[in-house]
This record gives sequence, structure tokens and C-alpha cells, in this order.
Amino acid sequence: MSVIAVQNFKGGVGKSTLSVHLAQYLAIRGYRVLLIDCDSQASSTTLFGYVPDLDLAEEETLYPFLREGERDTLDYAIKKTHFDGLDLVPANLRLFQSEYELAARMARGEGVLLNRLAQGIQSVSDLYDVVVLDPPPALGAISLSVLRAANALVVPVPPTVMDFSSTAAFLTMLSETMHGLRDREMAPTLSFLRFVASKVDENKSMQKALMDLMRQIFGNAMIRTPLKDSAEIDNATARLMSVYELQGPMTSKSVRDRCLTYLDGVCGEIEVDIRKTWPSHLARLRKEGHA
Ligand SMILES: Nc1ncnc2c1ncn2[C@@H]1O[C@H](COP(=O)(O)OP(=O)(O)OP(=O)(O)O)[C@@H](O)[C@H]1O
Ligand SMILES: [Mg+2]
Repeated sequence: MSVIAVQNFKGGVGKSTLSVHLAQYLAIRGYRVLLIDCDSQASSTTLFGYVPDLDLAEEETLYPFLREGERDTLDYAIKKTHFDGLDLVPANLRLFQSEYELAARMARGEGVLLNRLAQGIQSVSDLYDVVVLDPPPALGAISLSVLRAANALVVPVPPTVMDFSSTAAFLTMLSETMHGLRDREMAPTLSFLRFVASKVDENKSMQKALMDLMRQIFGNAMIRTPLKDSAEIDNATARLMSVYELQGPMTSKSVRDRCLTYLDGVCGEIEVDIRKTWPSHLARLRKEGHA
């Protein structure tokens, strides 16, 4: 099973947007997918039609599983969605409590708590091909648990100086965190790490220059398709929907078609990365010229 964290500690870079579209894209392509909303802001949950703090109790989120040792499966939190093949573990504001609780307990030496999310995912691993994790924009106990649980990372980076420099800081922290986890024999083994240029506006010359720099620095780890800034995404989000579930354009047909091209391009490249990790698919990918 692929466990993909769409991670960056910087806020507003497009983590939730990409998590939801990636999960839906993979479900449409026939994979069995679980999207876990690990962020108490609950953006992904909202895009599935919930009003998180009205419709959901804390018992329906990750919170009880992270808090208690007794539960041995994440089954209780899984909700069917209106997408065939796509299930959701929702979040709401109460999940924020666990940041404090986990931090306090870890300070008392209960470091194994960082394994709880990984254990929860393991408990439902027979049911899914891919798990997508949408973490909060901070380096807290939940983000560390996400890093611990993931076996692949996708990092969205808008090509602006602020986002790019915070991503550099994120990578430094990531490296230190990985070393820290390694010392405790808790470091994950990543099967891939990809960077996605997100919210790209190529009409801005500085963004173009930064994209070139990102391509140089990240090389093959960079997804070739940029996820451009699109009014279609903005308008779909305003209706609490994704671009994939809208029947027609919110803007114009040409804007929607272009937007779908970026989304399919980015998600398609990640799909190839996932399939490369499955030996039975690797041979087929080689025949298709993808590997
Ligand atoms: N490619 C895009 N085109 C247009 N708008 C976008 C695009 N990607 C994201 N957005 C918008 O940017 C805002 C932030 O995106 P999103 O919530 O996905 O970021 P995030 O990284 O999950 O934020 P947070 O750190 O708060 O969790 C949202 O309003 C979203 O609709
Ligand atoms: Mg988010």
C-alpha cells in the first residue's frame, strides 16, 4: 500500500487542494483510496460536504485513535464518500487537542505515540491500495506522526520567494527530523519524494525564474506538470467542491479543460510513481515506456 503525505509546513501552499484531487483522481482510475484529514482546520473534510464542527463529533476523527492505546483499528472513523472507491477519515477542530496531549505525553517519554497513526493505517491496510494524508501546516506531533506513517512524500511549492524559502526551511527540518527519528529507529523509508510547483502564475516573471531554479535544484524529483493557479479551482472551492466532481465549468470550457489538464498531469505522474513501487506494475510500466 502506498501511504502518500502531501506535506509542507508552510500554510496555504495547496496541500489540501492537491490531497483531495489526488485522492479523487486515483479513485476514478479504479484504485481503492483512503484520504485521512489530519488537519484540525478540516479543509479536505469540508470539500466532502461536511460542516466539520457541526456534523462531526471528535469520536469520528483520528483523535480517539491517537489518544487511546485500547483501540486497535481505525475502522470506526472511516466514512464512505460520494466517490466510488474513496473513503475519508474526517477531521474537525477537536483534533487540535491531540497536538497538546501528544506533545505533553511525548515530553514524558512516550515517544512511541508517534507510531499511532502508522498503526491505525496498518490496521486498515487490507482495504486500500493508496492512503493520502493531508497534514496541518506546522511541525507538531501530528505532522511528525504523518512523516512516520508515510512511505512517500509529495511537497507542493508555489514558486514565490516566500514559499520557496519556507520550503527550504521545511527540507532542513525534514532532514533533521528524519535523523532524529532514525536515531530512535523510527525513520520512514520513502519510496518517492516529489515536488509539485503549485498555484503557478507564469505571467509573473519572478515565478518563471523561480520555476527554473526549482527545476535545477530538484531535478527529476520535480513533477514536470506545473499545477497552475486556476480560477476553476478557486470557484470550485468556493462551492466546497473539487474540479473533478463538477459536471461543467465554473468559469469557461477552455479554463476548465486547461485546469483538468494540469490536475490530470500532476496526478498522473504521481500515479506512475505509485505503480513503480508495485513489482507487478513495474514490468508493465517498462513496456509502456514509463520506467
Ligand atoms: N492551483 C490553484 N489554483 C487556484 N487556487 C488554488 C490552487 N491551489 C490552491 N488554491 C487555493 O488556495 C487556498 C489554499 O489552498 P489549500 O487549502 O489547498 O492549501 P493548504 O496548503 O492545504 O493550506 P493549509 O496550510 O492552511 O492547510 C485555497 O483557497 C485554494 O482554493
Ligand atoms: Mg490544508
